[in-house]
Amino acid sequence: MNYKFPENFWWGAATSGPQAEGRFNKKHRSVFDYWYDIEPDAFFDKVGPDIASNFYNSYKEDIAMMKSIGFNSFRTSIQWTRLIDDFETASVDEDGVRYYNSVIDEAIKNGVTPVMCLHHFDLPIELYEKYGGWESKHVSYLFSKFAKVCFELFGDRVKYWATFNEPIVVIEGQYINEFHYPKVVDGKKAVQAAFNINLASAKAIEEFRKCECSKTAKIGIILNLTPAYPRSNSKEDIKAAEFANKFNNRIFLDPAVHGRFPDGIEEILEREGVLWENTEEEMKTIENNKIDFLGVNYYQPLRVKKRESEFDNSKGWLPYKHFEGYDMPGKKINPHRGWEIYPEAMYDIAINIRDNYNNIPWYVSENGMGVYGEEKFLNEEGMIVDDYRIEFATDHLKFLHKGITEGSNCFGYHLWTPIDCWSWSNAYRNRYGFISLDLNTQKKTIKKSGYWYKRVTENNGF
Ligand code: BG6
Repeated sequence: MNYKFPENFWWGAATSGPQAEGRFNKKHRSVFDYWYDIEPDAFFDKVGPDIASNFYNSYKEDIAMMKSIGFNSFRTSIQWTRLIDDFETASVDEDGVRYYNSVIDEAIKNGVTPVMCLHHFDLPIELYEKYGGWESKHVSYLFSKFAKVCFELFGDRVKYWATFNEPIVVIEGQYINEFHYPKVVDGKKAVQAAFNINLASAKAIEEFRKCECSKTAKIGIILNLTPAYPRSNSKEDIKAAEFANKFNNRIFLDPAVHGRFPDGIEEILEREGVLWENTEEEMKTIENNKIDFLGVNYYQPLRVKKRESEFDNSKGWLPYKHFEGYDMPGKKINPHRGWEIYPEAMYDIAINIRDNYNNIPWYVSENGMGVYGEEKFLNEEGMIVDDYRIEFATDHLKFLHKGITEGSNCFGYHLWTPIDCWSWSNAYRNRYGFISLDLNTQKKTIKKSGYWYKRVTENNGF
């Protein structure tokens, strides 16, 4: 065996409430539920989150399948819009409590450690309409009330919590690049929302530390790290990459681990008239409530160059004032998603965490490859032969292994995702799972990669 992983390494995969459960028995709507209701055409084949992968009804069979391919851990999320009845008081919905209790118990019964995340892009639409969602600090406060309820209800069994999944995607999708409802382009709001989400995460951690359950559990955050690589070694390209790293990665990573924002970013934002509003006390909350562990979602790097065309100011300030994307010739690409495949970054991330983030315990909380039309790869027994996924995961695991060998404190690897799930506006276009889903029948079938993973988990390596 060439690649042996540390003892008790986590093997599993991640999904989220809104992408797996279906909307069954849910009284409130998230921004995505609402968006689908008013604009179904914005979703591939007009498929929305109504049924998704039916996890609400089939979690027992689904968790048993995960167990059968070797999982010892898995992540999903608690939907704010399912658990909570009244967002202001954080009173609960009884069916929501019953449901999440059952999911957590079922995972534990199967020896699969549940990691529960509290926000996976699924802000309640009511809070957007009433307060402007993450533009409002009141929403940060309401989030911490929801989090407190989760710790009290499930903290006797859940040992790993995450406050947010990929908060920068909320900022980019909703306020910069127009891929999340309501597709606003507003740099100032983007910056304020980034601050408010950092505050919400810290406030949730503050509640966690007050809970008895924190004595035996840990809390973290899930960040999609997209290392920004400069086109060249020129001073200008390097400077562009530095800003991109600060805005896309470090704006959440630094407060989470170090309790402060990346050096210099506040000065730049202030000079350019878009700095967030904050109080001393809020800064203290962020400083005093750091994470115990980090989850890293890694799919693709960010290639960056200095601005070559003049920045288009017609929509006001945007981070692109400081850099431009660089379309690197010869890069390897996943044509279905258009994302670069660069496994080497897994090593760079590992070393960056080791050297610049106190070598905090971390795990790969998502990595994976979305492929369109996987039914083309069905064999005679009805199994999808997804060798490309096996190759993708193997290549990334090799670089992760190198980082671990050199001392990075990584304790697990989760693929996105256990069972093909609903993916925002791409819906079921690109499939990511170890287990396929027939949308017409809801039949779930283990792919070749699932059997491969089982062997990897049994051997704790390959
Ligand atoms: C991550 C998210 O960005 O990547 C998931 O945490 C998402 O929710 C996954 O589904 C794959 O991206 P996409 O856009 O292809 O679904």
